Amino acid sequence: MAERLDARQWGNWWTKNHLTSFHGHFHNNYDGPLRQFWEQHFATLPEGATILDLATGNGALALLAEEYSRQHQKNFHVTGIDYAEIQPGALQERHPLLGGITFLSCTAMEATGLESASQDMIMSQFGFEYGDMPAAIREIRRLLKPGGCFHAMLHHQDSAVLAQAREALAQIKHCEKSAAAETASALVELQARLAREKKLSEKDQQKARQLHQALRESLEKLNRYARQLKDPSHVRMFTQSIMVLFDRRNAGRISPPQRLQTIQRLMAENESYRQRMKDLRSAAYGNKDFQTLKKCLKQQGFISVSTGSQEYAGRHFCHTVSACLAD
Ligand SMILES: C[S@@+](CC[C@H](N)C(=O)[O-])C[C@H]1O[C@@H](n2cnc3c(N)ncnc32)[C@H](O)[C@@H]1O
Repeated sequence: MAERLDARQWGNWWTKNHLTSFHGHFHNNYDGPLRQFWEQHFATLPEGATILDLATGNGALALLAEEYSRQHQKNFHVTGIDYAEIQPGALQERHPLLGGITFLSCTAMEATGLESASQDMIMSQFGFEYGDMPAAIREIRRLLKPGGCFHAMLHHQDSAVLAQAREALAQIKHCEKSAAAETASALVELQARLAREKKLSEKDQQKARQLHQALRESLEKLNRYARQLKDPSHVRMFTQSIMVLFDRRNAGRISPPQRLQTIQRLMAENESYRQRMKDLRSAAYGNKDFQTLKKCLKQQGFISVSTGSQEYAGRHFCHTVSACLAD
């Protein structure tokens, strides 16, 4: 479990005002075939239906339900729960309909404390797989009304998202192994000394030359590696953030303490990105997990249990699961 993010770490992510857990994608919410999948299920619900979003984060999926409800006069009652301290309120200016949703922070999907047989539909987008499967299914079974359904999109180990996560982990490792950030810090320390003392000793001058050379070589090596990649965005961001600090044009503009702060922030971002990618990798289900999931759902009395592959932009994006209770 060391690879998993805890509630505090997720809470930290949600304070950064992200709508989803995808960095740099889905700024305006899940779209295309993902949205269609959900809207097709919202369309089957009666007016006034109760919908619960498990592991809601800052409420992206709950927001899709609320938007559908307003557009089609469905008057849904949407609730989103998450075990982290979430911050959907901070996004309300950009997405006013978040205000119509009931959000419960610090609420685990395995024990929500919500009323039994209270929900017409329980849903989750990249959330259910983060919980304890048997306990979460028992809770879903308890919360659903007769005839109610559970639908989820779950990360699959063979999906394009996971391929990208593995690629990101490789890029993070290369950046770290290059020691470019540490070399840059040592160099800035010397620049700070020069700024304070107006002069460097012969020994420090030699050290500065060596550090400059080492930094140049590390960055060149990273740039060569980036050229081999289809999407080198992480390595590029890393190298450019360091290069900017040593660009002569910025010499007077960025003070040594500001440079050190930027390098420290970069190292912290590298680490937090690595933790999130490892968390994603360890949460994703393989084919065996989907078999177990289907078995667990059937054991709890669900009927018409099905799983399927979901595409996005022409690639396998994730898997879906749907299961309903008898009326
Ligand atoms: C990948 S994020 C997805 C959030 C949201 N569904 C989305 O699509 O943006 C996973 C979320 O699961 C939550 N989570 C993890 N384990 C949980 C649990 N046992 N009960 C409730 N929430 C949990 C985390 O706090 C995090 O917000």
